[in-house]
Amino acid sequence: MSENTTSSAAPADAGQRRILVTSALPYANGSIHLGHLLEHIQTDIWTRFQRLRGHECYSVCADDAHGTPVMLKAQELGITPEEMVAKTRAEHHQDLQDFYVNYDNYYVTHSPENKALCEEIYTRLDNAGYISKRTINQLFDPEKEMFLPDRFVKGTCPSCGAEDQNGDSCDVCGSTYDPTEVVNPRSVVSGATPVLKESEHFFFDLPKFEDMLKSWIRSGALQNEMANKLQEWFEEGLQQWDISRDSPYFGFEIPGTTNKYFYVWVDAPVGYMASFMNYCNQHNIDFDSFWNADSDAELYHFIGKDITYFHCLFWPAMLEGAGYRKPTGVNIHGFVTVNGAKMSKSRGTFIKGRTFLDHLNPEYLRYYFAAKLGDGVTDIDLNFSDFAHKVNSDLVGKVVNIASRCASFITKKFDGKLSDTVLEPELLDQFHAAADQIASLYENRKYHQAIREIMALADKANQFIDANAPWVTIKDENKQQFTHDVCSLGINMFRILVVYLKPVLPVLAEKAEAFLNDEFNWQSSQEVLTGHAINKFKPMMQRVEMEKIDAMIEASKESLEAAAPKLDPNSPLAKDPVSDTINFDDFAKIDLRVARIANAEHVEGADKLLKLQLDLGGETRQVFAGIKSAYDPESLIGKHTVMVANLAPRKMRFGMSEGMVLAAGPGGKDLYIMEPHEGAQPGMRVK
Ligand code: 2FM
Ligand code: ZN
Repeated sequence: MSENTTSSAAPADAGQRRILVTSALPYANGSIHLGHLLEHIQTDIWTRFQRLRGHECYSVCADDAHGTPVMLKAQELGITPEEMVAKTRAEHHQDLQDFYVNYDNYYVTHSPENKALCEEIYTRLDNAGYISKRTINQLFDPEKEMFLPDRFVKGTCPSCGAEDQNGDSCDVCGSTYDPTEVVNPRSVVSGATPVLKESEHFFFDLPKFEDMLKSWIRSGALQNEMANKLQEWFEEGLQQWDISRDSPYFGFEIPGTTNKYFYVWVDAPVGYMASFMNYCNQHNIDFDSFWNADSDAELYHFIGKDITYFHCLFWPAMLEGAGYRKPTGVNIHGFVTVNGAKMSKSRGTFIKGRTFLDHLNPEYLRYYFAAKLGDGVTDIDLNFSDFAHKVNSDLVGKVVNIASRCASFITKKFDGKLSDTVLEPELLDQFHAAADQIASLYENRKYHQAIREIMALADKANQFIDANAPWVTIKDENKQQFTHDVCSLGINMFRILVVYLKPVLPVLAEKAEAFLNDEFNWQSSQEVLTGHAINKFKPMMQRVEMEKIDAMIEASKESLEAAAPKLDPNSPLAKDPVSDTINFDDFAKIDLRVARIANAEHVEGADKLLKLQLDLGGETRQVFAGIKSAYDPESLIGKHTVMVANLAPRKMRFGMSEGMVLAAGPGGKDLYIMEPHEGAQPGMRVK
């Protein structure tokens, strides 16, 4: 379903529209990574597309400056939060610009505009009766003298007893709980045992907005699948939202209070307005006409699915309650996985934007994400071999190749000028005619389908060139006009393809514009260049090299090692790091049992294997184990060991193997089978 849902976007052929677009504001305490980039690139493509179509479209973003994690990180670095935020904001902005993600304004939520807007919105909500106060009990760090957000409490899971679990959820059994239920809690900040302490908090009356929210989420503002998800939240019942935090807190003080601050999720979305206001003030744009309740401008937020709650419940309710307009659309995307798995620091697939830029052309990533992004919330996998293949085959092999195959003949033989005639108008018509379909796909964020259409056209252009082989006809004196026409049509087809790709590949488009003495807007796709002077062709894009990808992954691993605690180089962990975590369910599937080695013998023709008969106290299993280098078979007979008893039988060269014994060590003589403690009997479960 996800790929068929559409937003409420206005039709692609509407008159000039006024549009404001935002991406989620990155927190000011970490680097931009591939996960952020999916969203910023998705937003930037959409924004560029709208501008190419001639609409008045602004895009704003900012660093999300406030909250406990930012405050503590600054303390750790021994600088003020303001200093840290200024530095991080500049880094984030530079990273994004280097990926050609161009916001009209990249601001910060710790700004005078944001403070004023938050105060105004809060006051309006308060005056309208949407704010109440209540005293609550919360965990408090007596050493640090601060209340502890859930993630700053650790302890033993109240459900399964696993140690060192988060304050609100257990990674081992998956249960969620209140931090006050954690057994033996400790503060992550100081290590002290937290105490319960009372404090008065301010609450926003979200349940009052239930009817409005129910109709807003079905107004076309959300993908259907997300509207359905929100329905579940309504069924669970909306709650009063706690919008205050106690000092010490890096944020804005709530008007009329001392030492009470707005929770970061209050001022973060207001930061969208503030960034735009800051821009409007510098460029003489009418801010109110975008934000007033009766605004006819469109407002879109691009976000990841993890922050839907904030954007689709709290935020529209705050806007409504304070007399502002609500978003036209909240466009939600899934997460990024790399090579089929969650981004992982140990595998080197947690890749920062800067590390990518150090090794690869940012347009590769823009293109790959575009080729994968639909309008749904499914996760997007960045598979590096597919990535290299797609960029090389589509962009270098198909698109740029069209120009490089045709351009040199025009330059050398035809005075650098395109022909006056169009050889196959019907073929060119197909290129013109695709414009509306491709525009509607961009409009509805079905970028992957837009790319598919564009590449189908690129295939047509290449087939045309193959069929007419200008490199052959150029040698025939009688076919000069024909050759000129073939190459000119090739160049025109290339030009239209690049017009369609311009929202995704702004730099490639710029190079093509320089080559063709032209400047593209969407309407350019409907034109033909005849008798037009072009420039000498210069290579426009290099192939992706696998070595560069490998180097980037290596560099991502290094940045982790630098951050990891120093290990003794002789420790087994230094040579063979602990694998990524698995969840409890995965672990629970492995049935480990005590087994008695009833027999052990050499296997004819096998260098490494011994054949074992393992007695499980009721049945006997035949297992081939690669432990010959370390054990004489006779020495094993009668010993107890541990085996994986539910491993599916595997047919090996020497017969069936019906399980696996556990052994430790790197190999060779250095290999030790597991032996349970005395008293363990065959068949007992190992837990
Ligand atoms: O989840 C995050 O990364 C938040 N910093 C996003 C904030 S978006 C908006 F509400 F400001
Ligand atoms: Zn648990």
